[in-house]
Amino acid sequence: MKLSLPTALQKLHHHRKEKHVGRGVLFLFCLLAIYLFIFFILYSPNPFRVRPPKDLQQNTTSIRPNDNKGSEEEAEYYCDLFKGRWIKDLRGPLYSNWSCRTIPDSKNCGKHGREDVDYLKWRWKPDGCDLHRFDPKSFLRIVNGKKLAFIGDSVARNQLESLLCLLSHEETPTDIYKDSIDRFRTWYFPSHNFTLMILWSKFLVVGEERVINGSLSGVYDLHLDRIDQNWASKLPGVDYAIISDSHWFFRKNYIYEGGKFIGCIFCNEPNITDYGLAFPIRRVFRTVLQYINDSKDCKDLLTLVRTFSPAHFENGSWNNGGHCNRTSPFSEKEANFEGTEWELRSVQVEEVEKARVEGKKIGKKFGALDVTRAMLMRPDGHPGAHWNNKWMEGYNDCVHWCLPGPVDSWNDLLMAVVSRENGASFLI
Ligand SMILES: *[C@@H]1O[C@H](CO)[C@@H](O)[C@H](O)[C@H]1NC(C)=O
Ligand SMILES: *[C@@H]1O[C@H](CO)[C@@H](O)[C@H](O)[C@H]1NC(C)=O
Ligand SMILES: *[C@@H]1O[C@H](CO)[C@@H](O)[C@H](O)[C@H]1NC(C)=O
Ligand SMILES: *[C@@H]1O[C@H](CO)[C@@H](O)[C@H](O)[C@H]1NC(C)=O
Ligand SMILES: *[C@@H]1O[C@H](CO)[C@@H](O)[C@H](O)[C@H]1NC(C)=O
Ligand SMILES: *[C@@H]1O[C@H](CO)[C@@H](O)[C@H](O)[C@H]1NC(C)=O
Ligand SMILES: *[C@@H]1O[C@H](CO)[C@@H](O)[C@H](O)[C@H]1NC(C)=O
Ligand SMILES: *[C@@H]1O[C@H](CO)[C@@H](O)[C@H](O)[C@H]1NC(C)=O
Repeated sequence: MKLSLPTALQKLHHHRKEKHVGRGVLFLFCLLAIYLFIFFILYSPNPFRVRPPKDLQQNTTSIRPNDNKGSEEEAEYYCDLFKGRWIKDLRGPLYSNWSCRTIPDSKNCGKHGREDVDYLKWRWKPDGCDLHRFDPKSFLRIVNGKKLAFIGDSVARNQLESLLCLLSHEETPTDIYKDSIDRFRTWYFPSHNFTLMILWSKFLVVGEERVINGSLSGVYDLHLDRIDQNWASKLPGVDYAIISDSHWFFRKNYIYEGGKFIGCIFCNEPNITDYGLAFPIRRVFRTVLQYINDSKDCKDLLTLVRTFSPAHFENGSWNNGGHCNRTSPFSEKEANFEGTEWELRSVQVEEVEKARVEGKKIGKKFGALDVTRAMLMRPDGHPGAHWNNKWMEGYNDCVHWCLPGPVDSWNDLLMAVVSRENGASFLI
């Protein structure tokens, strides 16, 4: 005979005569209830989490502050992860240059004489919620059977290197592909059937270096509306694409649209329109997002634009003695949220927001990994003089980020965004 718990209790009430039998049944039911509850707690990935309504699950770009209905879970779900501050965290990073064997020399600041360690003891705290510390187990569970690609320049690679270190406690991947100059590379995590790739591109679009008098000039002809097929051809089958770019635009480049020459960036030539950076970067991101929107090969792709990663040269730039040797973060007041770097970030956020709205109509997912604000406050996170600069003696690197270091928070953010996309969150 099957009884629900209330029915059983009712029966007990009506059959007082069978008191002893009744107690036994009640005891068994309690045992069963407790057992089921424990089972639920142990095996449910998010036991106390309610899935938010479907139509809101896709808003990865931003929050709706007034939608906070007071519940902690909802506050967390709608919280703007990208607006916040750095707070002290004495736990320090998840890995060290001993535990992670894959830190490249160029980012291994400890190995190259960086002695201050305070910069490792901060964590990013969004104003409206807590950002959970990267959890390799959960991350690998989410990306099980998936392919994730970082697409862009060496700063994109920097985030990948951080992710490799963060995952290294859980599983050591095998290197399954590497081109001759280590710009396209693929790792595979067999226990999780997870593939991680770097698809390298200077400009994301076609950029041909000018040859002057038989040698490479460092000046490029950029076609703002022609996608760089070197990475784009590898996109089919990718589930998560984290796209970023910008630093190669900071030089003299000539730009083209529809195959026609239209002007330059930083050229200072009398007859040529100098467009500055915002215009070409907007056009390039539009081209990339449009390409993905239109592509039939990437139906299930989640595309995230990782926004501009600021440099922190002081008293000069990379080629004339600029340095970056601060040892603690900037406060909100000290950081500069008004310059070109912030403008470029805003251009990227606008373009990806447009793509998100458009893509939603056809089931394509776009979002931002908007790290710019957080990183503008981290002048202390760069290698500066502490990197293996054999081939660039005397240069300070104030563009890339030390490993471990504040760049690891990009992957905390990545995990939060990707798990939101899956309708989950991380309370534990
Ligand atoms: C996403 O958030 C933005 C900003 O709060 C809002 O304007 C937009 O309508 C939201 N989109 C959806 C689908 O909820
Ligand atoms: C790690 O960094 C420390 C300084 O923090 C340095 O002394 C050590 O040599 C580094 N080890 C490796 C393996 O890079
Ligand atoms: C790994 O994942 C891919 C893509 O989801 C799938 O096609 C393949 O069957 C999986 N392989 C194994 C061994 O699970
Ligand atoms: C190319 O080389 C020639 C001869 O060495 C020189 O006169 C000319 O100025 C060079 N042109 C440029 C653009 O550097
Ligand atoms: C500017 O462009 C005009 C027309 O294309 C050309 O005749 C002229 O020589 C150019 N002047 C300079 C300084 O390049
Ligand atoms: C996105 O792709 C769809 C389907 O190919 C197309 O109808 C739509 O116009 C595209 N959106 C944009 C902004 O290009
Ligand atoms: C940087 O330059 C400014 C003025 O150009 C000077 O006041 C300051 O002391 C310099 N700082 C360092 C660390 O060299
Ligand atoms: C930073 O480097 C500059 C130039 O090398 C130097 O003048 C300054 O004292 C350094 N500051 C710190 C805090 O080490």
